[in-house]
Amino acid sequence: MGEVSADLVTLDLLREARETVRSSPLGVINTPTIPWCQTTLPLNINCDIIIKLENMQRTGSFKIRGVANQFAKRQKDGHFVTMSAGNYGKSFAYASKHFGSKGKVVMPETAPVSRSVLIQSFGLEVERVPTSCLMNVVNRCVQEDNMTFLHSYDDLDLIAGHASLGMELLEVMPMPDVVVVCCGGGGLLAGVASAVKLSGCDETKIYGVEPEGACTMYKSYIEKKPVGMDTKSIASGLAPPFAGTLPFELCQRYVEGIVLVSDQEIQKAVSILYASGLVVEPSGSAAVAAILNNKIPDLEGKNIVCIISGGNIGKDELSNIPD
Ligand SMILES: Cc1ncc(COP(=O)(O)O)c(C=O)c1O
Repeated sequence: MGEVSADLVTLDLLREARETVRSSPLGVINTPTIPWCQTTLPLNINCDIIIKLENMQRTGSFKIRGVANQFAKRQKDGHFVTMSAGNYGKSFAYASKHFGSKGKVVMPETAPVSRSVLIQSFGLEVERVPTSCLMNVVNRCVQEDNMTFLHSYDDLDLIAGHASLGMELLEVMPMPDVVVVCCGGGGLLAGVASAVKLSGCDETKIYGVEPEGACTMYKSYIEKKPVGMDTKSIASGLAPPFAGTLPFELCQRYVEGIVLVSDQEIQKAVSILYASGLVVEPSGSAAVAAILNNKIPDLEGKNIVCIISGGNIGKDELSNIPD
């Protein structure tokens, strides 16, 4: 993916992708964007928070947006392979079944088994491997089995599809002061930030949030190039082994900074969201965790958009989260 330049991400490209996502036969929805008005919110600053509920999205996360645009741009009867901890895999499997294409998902063996079972139920093959072997297995599938690789975060069409989320939030809050987005490989953050900045919100500050144990984008900022690490976090969707190249370039252009949250802070956010009536998985809760733990600078009196990026969590996993 290294050769794809951030210059290719233009407002025209994002508008076209938005139309593709909106009219996709996969049924992507414009998710609710609502003021977070819970009186129980443990926040000691005065600010207006709007939450965008991608946990209510088809397949339970924002990933279907990018997948809708990726499939729209490719031969549907192909044989595709991807690597995913769960949410991309679920959207990929849903789209593959819908379009009748064959597919395989290479998963880190740390991902919940329930996610593999779900993906298999859509008729796809799953191979579980150590995180450090993910790319080797994908390369083998491409070289030996002639499969086409669809990247779960470092792909122009995917990022352009995710940007539809940014366009939607601007319809509700046209000039937010701050936007807070969870970051794994950086596809979501790059898409949202590109949409917001290319739409003319020059003053808006966009922050990415990563787990402390999986801070590849944070380290990439320091080293000024996309880097990898041995990742470990309860938020498996935010813990791919390396930051995406195109996401990194776009984040450098459009994102103010990356902040870190601990697994404990993520768990607390899941629990607070649950108490507010929202079922949100750890990977979907990191942006909330960053706001509640004062990790984002200068929020007093500001209009903030917080993306709640996914809700795929089972009862068992949820009951293991401490209050
Ligand atoms: C719920 C959720 N939020 C955020 C992310 C991070 O997305 P990205 O890898 O595009 O940064 C993921 C990735 O799987 C996810 O599942």
